[in-house]
Amino acid sequence: MTDTIDPPEAAPAEPQVVPFTKPVATAPASAPRVIAIANQKGGVGKTTTAINLGTALAAIGEHVLIVDLDPQGNASTGLGIERKQRRTSTYDVLTGHAPMRDAVIPTAVPQLHLAPSTMDLSGLELEIGRERDRAFRLRTALHNINNGTPAFNFTYVLVDCPPSLNLITVNAMAAANSILVPMQCEFFALEGLSQLLKTVDEVKKNLNPNLSIHGIVMTMFDSRNNLANQVVADVRQFMGKQVYETVIPRNVRISEAPSYGKPVLVYDLKCVGSEAYLRLATEIIQRERAMKAAG
Ligand SMILES: Nc1ncnc2c1ncn2[C@@H]1O[C@H](COP(=O)(O)OP(=O)(O)OP(=O)(O)O)[C@@H](O)[C@H]1O
Ligand SMILES: [Mg+2]
Repeated sequence: MTDTIDPPEAAPAEPQVVPFTKPVATAPASAPRVIAIANQKGGVGKTTTAINLGTALAAIGEHVLIVDLDPQGNASTGLGIERKQRRTSTYDVLTGHAPMRDAVIPTAVPQLHLAPSTMDLSGLELEIGRERDRAFRLRTALHNINNGTPAFNFTYVLVDCPPSLNLITVNAMAAANSILVPMQCEFFALEGLSQLLKTVDEVKKNLNPNLSIHGIVMTMFDSRNNLANQVVADVRQFMGKQVYETVIPRNVRISEAPSYGKPVLVYDLKCVGSEAYLRLATEIIQRERAMKAAG
């Protein structure tokens, strides 16, 4: 059973989390909350969570920007943004060729914007890996995002990370207030968590002292599967209150929606998947309030 996790492992081979140049000054009061959706395991529901949590937050009144930081571009495709619409991408932004505001485009969902990605992003490491500010590119790009463009008043930025602890994910962690970790309800759910937490610690130590874990969301839960129940119990026992109450069920409507370029809340508002993401959005806002109240 999943009652143990990997022994602590060495930091990722790439020297991405050593101190770099100074980050930009503290963000202004109107700055959005930046949440990086990260797990180096592939296919655990990061992109699905970015799209549908973003949509749910927008539906309950927040102004949301999803930043697609995965060269696969699944968040962009899943929101119906075709390649030819991705004139300015997060690659252009992180390589310093365009400001973030040029990449931001509206989606079909009111109050939900997207900064799309393209395949070029997979070459980011080669391109900027030797620059002193390489880990702070996203943080700098998001600084003052709400100033200067009247249409922008984002309250949340959700960053969809690739399945890797590479320079892209480090950029997301260095720019974020907190990290949301989707975890699939499967036997090896906790595998790799220690490495993820170690990277978070190193980013905290070297790049972003205020970074915290926002929470862990269990995804693709199948109540008919005894193992899934056991996995959720194990993860709750191991990670305690960091695990959200809301569990995202395995739901065919969730998996169908991206092929129509729609969030599940638009594709089928009444399905259990949509309801779960709305509950998660509410829980996240409550947790934000509690975090703020606690200082
Ligand atoms: N709750 C769910 N119910 C059914 N299918 C789901 C659910 N969540 C995600 N999926 C499906 O599982 C697959 C993987 O999900 P997703 O792309 O969100 O994972 P990911 O962590 O972003 O993957 P990657 O690591 O490749 O970026 C997708 O086909 C998605 O539609
Ligand atoms: Mg993804």
